[in-house]
Amino acid sequence: MIFIFHTVVLTLSTWMESIEGANMSMKFTKIAPQHCGPRRLTSAWVARSRSLCATSCLVRFPNCHGFMYNNVTKLCTPSSGLSAEQLRPSLDEGDLYFSDSCQSYPDFSIKSNLSTHVNVAYYNSPLLNYTNARAACECMNSHQYVADSLEKYWLMYSLVSVQFRVQAGLNDMAVEGQFVWEDSGQEINSTLKDAILKLGQPADWVSEDCAYLHPNQTKFMVGLCSGARAYLCEKPVCY
Ligand SMILES: *[C@@H]1O[C@H](CO)[C@@H](O)[C@H](O)[C@H]1NC(C)=O
Ligand SMILES: *[C@@H]1O[C@H](CO)[C@@H](O)[C@H](O)[C@H]1NC(C)=O
Ligand SMILES: *[C@@H]1O[C@H](CO)[C@@H](O)[C@H](O)[C@H]1NC(C)=O
Ligand SMILES: *[C@@H]1O[C@H](CO)[C@@H](O)[C@H](O)[C@H]1NC(C)=O
Ligand SMILES: *[C@@H]1O[C@H](CO)[C@@H](O)[C@H](O)[C@H]1NC(C)=O
Ligand SMILES: *[C@@H]1O[C@H](CO)[C@@H](O)[C@H](O)[C@H]1NC(C)=O
Repeated sequence: MIFIFHTVVLTLSTWMESIEGANMSMKFTKIAPQHCGPRRLTSAWVARSRSLCATSCLVRFPNCHGFMYNNVTKLCTPSSGLSAEQLRPSLDEGDLYFSDSCQSYPDFSIKSNLSTHVNVAYYNSPLLNYTNARAACECMNSHQYVADSLEKYWLMYSLVSVQFRVQAGLNDMAVEGQFVWEDSGQEINSTLKDAILKLGQPADWVSEDCAYLHPNQTKFMVGLCSGARAYLCEKPVCY
């Protein structure tokens, strides 16, 4: 027979779920994501309480990083974490409780080129415009990919599928001709700009502000920020 003891400490919307015996403890916080959603691990089941929902998620799934709980129907849905490909919780699914850690973003993985390491997720479904892609990345506590070195640029090039246009976190929306990285707001350095950005095309320069990889080009093109494209999100490297 297996005994599982659990203690619940509730403070506002955050509490610690500890399972002794299994030697697990996890802090869940109620969140309401808008531009991403929880990856569902199975269909919902009925759990008598939110605490039992948390406990069974942790016991049944080593990759439990959150769950949804409907406090009226008592439906409980386990989750492996946040993804830009997933819809936010429906009313039927209830409230989302999330445990934030390095492992709570299942689409991200660490990729390397020489001594450059990045924690990155690539999305090509659905294709999103620049603002929506930025919002999707922010929803996962990340930002669009910043290719601010040759190593990172070629790494991006090798990670993406050639059939899509793929945008990066580089735009000149604020000041025409001054391309800045999305994470820092720093302007791209001129050496790198010459190496990775294709400029001087006969285009409407005022309206085209966002950098993207084109299937048949080896440098970033600049196009309308309203274009729906594939994109990458980047987080600090963690383990
Ligand atoms: C239980 O977890 C704690 C902290 O995570 C760790 O220090 C301890 O060694 C673990 N005990 C066992 C028996 O695994
Ligand atoms: C029950 O669920 C509703 C709807 O999500 C939420 O507004 C309310 O705060 C919940 N009540 C408790 C006690 O968690
Ligand atoms: C621009 O960036 C490249 C690559 O990161 C670096 O080697 C170079 O020194 C930088 N140049 C300037 C002027 O900052
Ligand atoms: C790594 O970066 C270098 C540029 O510094 C580039 O030539 C090479 O193709 C890159 N390799 C991969 C696998 O991205
Ligand atoms: C590259 O793509 C552009 C736009 O889709 C097209 O006009 C051009 O012919 C293509 N060039 C090559 C070499 O395939
Ligand atoms: C992207 O689409 C949204 C609607 O989904 C719109 O509000 C936004 O202005 C668009 N962004 C750009 C840069 O066109």
